[in-house]
Amino acid sequence: MRIVVLVSGTGSNLQAVLDAVAAGELDVEISAVGADRNGTYGVERAAAAGYETFVVNFKDYPVRSDWNRALTDKVASYQPDVVLSSGFMRIVDEHFIDTFEGRYVNTHPALLPSFPGAHGVRDALAYGVKVTGCTVHIADAGVDTGPILAQAAVEVLDGDTEESLHERIKVQERRLLIETLRKISKDGLPQP
Ligand code: GRF
Repeated sequence: MRIVVLVSGTGSNLQAVLDAVAAGELDVEISAVGADRNGTYGVERAAAAGYETFVVNFKDYPVRSDWNRALTDKVASYQPDVVLSSGFMRIVDEHFIDTFEGRYVNTHPALLPSFPGAHGVRDALAYGVKVTGCTVHIADAGVDTGPILAQAAVEVLDGDTEESLHERIKVQERRLLIETLRKISKDGLPQP
């Protein structure tokens, strides 16, 4: 199974995937790791591990649909079976979604459909939920919507800050992501 991973940030989820592949615990071929901006630690981690990397810099494209098309073309050039959004913080348009329909997998640090969007941890904490968690799902054209593949619950503790809660969620998110990728590589993606 060939995957392209998209990142915007520190890439700790990506690192978990790289480590699992290196340890022989996950049988996937990482074709490339790409970002929407320069200087992400995620791309640095991938390059350090010897993987091909690319940047389709959002800021280089005054017209958003041009950026979308450039990203779609770049990702498609690797002919991936799965495109993994691993902390990729940019919303892609329908052209991208249609091109990789049913193959675009996203991780989100909340129990969807609760708390979608860029601040899933902060919003859950502000609402006062006692349990939150993480979700791995197939992304459709909405924001953090689409068929759910796996979820894990994380308890909110007294005194939690956004950072402390996110750290505990990420521990589960990494585990869930590896498990889900392993399942997909074995059984394939669910058919729509
Ligand atoms: C993850 O919790 C992801 O779900 C969220 O941002 C975090 C990314 O972390 N959207 P990293 O870049 O993998 O370290």
